[in-house]
Amino acid sequence: MRAELIEKKGILVISFCIIMLVMAGAFQSVSAGEDVELPEVEFRDSELGELIFYRSSVRQFEDREVELEKVAEILWSTIGITVDGVTGPTRAAPSAGATDPLSIYLVAGQVGGLEPGVYRYLSEDESLEIVAEGDRSQELAAVALNQQAIEAAPFSIVIAADYQRTTGRYGERGRRYVEIEAGAAAQNANLMAENLGLKGVWIGAFQDSQVQEVLGGIEEPLIIMPLGYPGNNFSL
Ligand SMILES: Cc1cc2nc3c(=O)[nH]c(=O)nc-3n(C[C@H](O)[C@H](O)[C@H](O)COP(=O)(O)O)c2cc1C
Repeated sequence: MRAELIEKKGILVISFCIIMLVMAGAFQSVSAGEDVELPEVEFRDSELGELIFYRSSVRQFEDREVELEKVAEILWSTIGITVDGVTGPTRAAPSAGATDPLSIYLVAGQVGGLEPGVYRYLSEDESLEIVAEGDRSQELAAVALNQQAIEAAPFSIVIAADYQRTTGRYGERGRRYVEIEAGAAAQNANLMAENLGLKGVWIGAFQDSQVQEVLGGIEEPLIIMPLGYPGNNFSL
């Protein structure tokens, strides 16, 4: 009986030691200044990981129109309506206090079934409102330090903002929020485009007031993103 008890105790002690050893392996003890090794991750095993991995800027495009369905998906990915959130419908990109300062414009040159022009994306009913007629890509390139990518692309999206919507609630800090939101919407559009076989580049170097003029009096422009099928000289 006594021997049996000692044996049971022994098993308990050994089990306890094994658990402690496993835990010690699971939690590396580190001191300040030391590195912690990350586990190996097969990030390219997920579709999103692959899109992020292969994203890159492209400034030359095939002379080929882009399907309106693809353009619609890209527009939706910026500020389109998504699931019903806690306080109502939410959007593809987050917005500080749901103040929604962003407006998205489509500068269409070669988009299937769409007259060249400047269009405002109406996210609530998934439609476009024309704000200026005709292909404005050449003029737009001219006020963006003559960056040829804008002229060469079949279309560009322009992310603009009404800062007052956010600064009205958050004061000066709201400016930061607006620009963070523009980055989120732009990255969504960039990755959605990649997902559809399109590529492009973010353009931040332009004359604000002249861009506003060319595009028919839009809010403050933050990012111009020419997009299209990558040119022949592009390879991964
Ligand atoms: C905010 C911002 C503004 C940018 N403005 C321009 C621009 O005006 N012209 C341009 O050719 N590229 C512009 N780029 C693209 C960068 O040059 C590009 O992302 C960088 O060279 C890294 O290359 P990759 O995108 O292929 O990784 C901009 C990128 C960001 C994020």
